[in-house]
Amino acid sequence: MVYVTRRATFSSSHILFNPELSDEENLALFDKCANKMGHGHNYVVEVTVAGEPNVRTGYVIDLKKLKTIIKQEVLDKVDHKHLNFEVEFLRGVIPTAENIARGIWRVLEPKIREGKLYSVRLHETENNIVEYRGERS
Ligand code: NI
Repeated sequence: MVYVTRRATFSSSHILFNPELSDEENLALFDKCANKMGHGHNYVVEVTVAGEPNVRTGYVIDLKKLKTIIKQEVLDKVDHKHLNFEVEFLRGVIPTAENIARGIWRVLEPKIREGKLYSVRLHETENNIVEYRGERS
């Protein structure tokens, strides 16, 4: 099995806030991330596809195609957007890095026809990184 990764960046704003909790509870849980005016991050997403290299092309997936899929399905929807209000695939969830990574997986997975989506790794800051590998254990 060969693992191929494409990296991309986007800038978005969000608020970490659970509407079912009080302002005090949200502040205790999310601290300054609960600021209702929001704040931004420069996200880095790494999308890894796993498979055997195609005999004819030598590719697991053509990275030009993967780049286009990521742009159309993810970047065009989230870059310079407010993740709490403007992104269909994040509707109804608190846009933590965990939920963003899972949302990105869900929009990419059906579009990848060469190899199989293996992981979505999302860097929210230099030091905070989450990785989603789908529902399988
Ligand atoms: Ni944040």
